[in-house]
Amino acid sequence: MDLKQFVAIVPDYPKQGIVFKDITPLMNDGEAYKYATDQIVDYAKDKQIDIIVGPEARGFIIGCPVAYALGVGFAPVRKEGKLPRETIKVGYGLEYGKDVLTIHKDAIKPGQRVLITDDLLATGGTIDATIQLVEQLGGVVAGIAFLVELSYLDGRKKLDGYDILSLMMY
Ligand code: PRP
Ligand code: HPA
Repeated sequence: MDLKQFVAIVPDYPKQGIVFKDITPLMNDGEAYKYATDQIVDYAKDKQIDIIVGPEARGFIIGCPVAYALGVGFAPVRKEGKLPRETIKVGYGLEYGKDVLTIHKDAIKPGQRVLITDDLLATGGTIDATIQLVEQLGGVVAGIAFLVELSYLDGRKKLDGYDILSLMMY
């Protein structure tokens, strides 16, 4: 299936000069959403994944159906102030801003094998911060899966040495 037909290209959103790749049409189409989810499940199924970790908000949309299909749990990474119990935090930069990401301290047990999911790899700041959170808790990043990779932003360079799947490349 050609998944790119389900990505809407939006110029100058959220800021002048950013060409935004909107994955909501893909989520809107049951067949395309299932196909994309199945591709990630296929990638993950031999990696002995114990838990999925995804950053707010679109990492949840990708990660939760994969967690369900693999029969494993899901741990949310959220922006500062959103998780109610004890967290650890990491600051990071984005294509269009900067922020702080957090995870509950007890979300991952040392040695657990983690699949990280998100909708899109841009500069890699979000996933780099997510990797740091997982590794600070003793998790092992066994794979990272995206729907979309913006190769012109070189985010992959920040993720050197990690096993990465991108379903669509721009
Ligand atoms: C977007 C996107 C990725 C990240 C990619 O999320 O969903 O998580 O930016 O950019 P990067 O590779 O440069 O870090 P955003 O922070 O806009 O949050 P949202 O999903 O809550 O809208
Ligand atoms: N699309 C969606 N999310 C993003 C983008 C984009 O082009 N860049 C950074 N986050």
